[in-house]
Amino acid sequence: MDDGSVDIKSRVAAEVASLPVAALDPAQPDLFAADAFWPVFTRLRAEDPVHFVESPIYGPYWSITRWADIMAVDSNHQVFSSADGIVLQTLEAKAESEKRPRGSSFIAMDPPGHDVQRKTVSPAVAPANLAVLGPLVRERAGAILDSLPIGEEFDWVDLVSKELTAMTLATLFDFPQEDRRLLTHWSDMFTNAPGHGPAKSWEHKREQADACFARFTELWNERVNAEPKFDLVSMLAHSPETRNLPITDYHSNVVLLIIGGNDTTRNTISGSVYALNKNPDQYDKLRADPSLITSMVSETIRWQTPLAHMARTATVDHELGGKTIKAGDRVAMWYVSGNRDDEVIANPNAYVIDRERPRSHLSFGFGIHRCVGNRLAELQLTIIWEEIMKRFPTVELVGEPTRTHSVFVKGYETLPVVIPRRN
Ligand code: HEM
Repeated sequence: MDDGSVDIKSRVAAEVASLPVAALDPAQPDLFAADAFWPVFTRLRAEDPVHFVESPIYGPYWSITRWADIMAVDSNHQVFSSADGIVLQTLEAKAESEKRPRGSSFIAMDPPGHDVQRKTVSPAVAPANLAVLGPLVRERAGAILDSLPIGEEFDWVDLVSKELTAMTLATLFDFPQEDRRLLTHWSDMFTNAPGHGPAKSWEHKREQADACFARFTELWNERVNAEPKFDLVSMLAHSPETRNLPITDYHSNVVLLIIGGNDTTRNTISGSVYALNKNPDQYDKLRADPSLITSMVSETIRWQTPLAHMARTATVDHELGGKTIKAGDRVAMWYVSGNRDDEVIANPNAYVIDRERPRSHLSFGFGIHRCVGNRLAELQLTIIWEEIMKRFPTVELVGEPTRTHSVFVKGYETLPVVIPRRN
């Protein structure tokens, strides 16, 4: 590799090996951007799986790194509440967010509020609607792939991963397709800290959030008194559980659905191209037997882990792994680490597209907040790969990706590829 990442990785590995375990802190966006965080998790899983950190960036939090402990936290919403937010928030972001009135989305709620709102939007991603969406996604995937240059380098993230997920999300919201890339843009504005991605400053982030909210308020106003339709805005505007909520809660649910529907699937699509190129024997296996697409998709979701963690707040003092987590303490469940726990997954660092139980991973979470869009994500990934295999013998990685500067969204900003020829 010529991008210097090997140097960074070996430097971080040496540093991590030399530090006392008490000093380890996985929540460092620089390490995620350099893909250099893995040795931190390997040590924490082995030596201190329930680990207290005083982070200069995020404040104090507990870092949970083993599969079994993550499951214990994720499936115990009585003790581990989502109401104070579900990501590690930088101290700076926290101070910023306190300057403005805030709403709450259902991912950041406990029962009963969570349950009724989740139920409101679930039909959009339930099997009956997926059967309707499938042919649409296939048609669009085909059109995207047919428009790609042959024999010329291009950015897979931009031309494929973002395009397909933006089209699907625009359909779910019944948002004008010609403006679909606004959804991608807003998602990037919400998830990036100032100075990263498209976000230049806090003011820029606020401005763009306001533009997003204004547009979605217009859609609400158009639909609230119209005949109910089968899109996410109409569902929220017509359901007795959500129609009378403060507008800030509606906006927060929009943010949840934009991020949920965008970044995760996008980064898995990019991750599949990256992983298959880094593991050519697996790409050969897939070419020899395209029926492996389904398990390849799940293996990529595990291997990539597009959301590196989810966070909770303890409601009472609670014992976990011999430590006492105090009421009010923040807790980060590192899915990215749990998915590499060799007590549960054999040879977890390897990318193996025909694993026996490929859906056995933590990437969609567990318990009452388990990803509501998981089948839609799998559907898009399966279809794009079915259509890729029909058209191209290979999608070739021609350089290293740039990675997202985040401890939450684990993904790719760019991924340079060439498609040498069609089938
Ligand atoms: C590979 C793709 C995806 C991954 C890895 C992913 C991951 C996750 C995770 C980790 C959670 C939280 C689970 C927990 O706290 O236990 C979640 C929740 C959620 N996801 Fe996804 N997601 C993906 C795709 C999608 C899609 C396509 C949508 C589409 C609309 C979506 C919508 C949501 C929503 C609304 C929630 C909140 C559920 C709740 O609080 O009950 N996700 N997702």
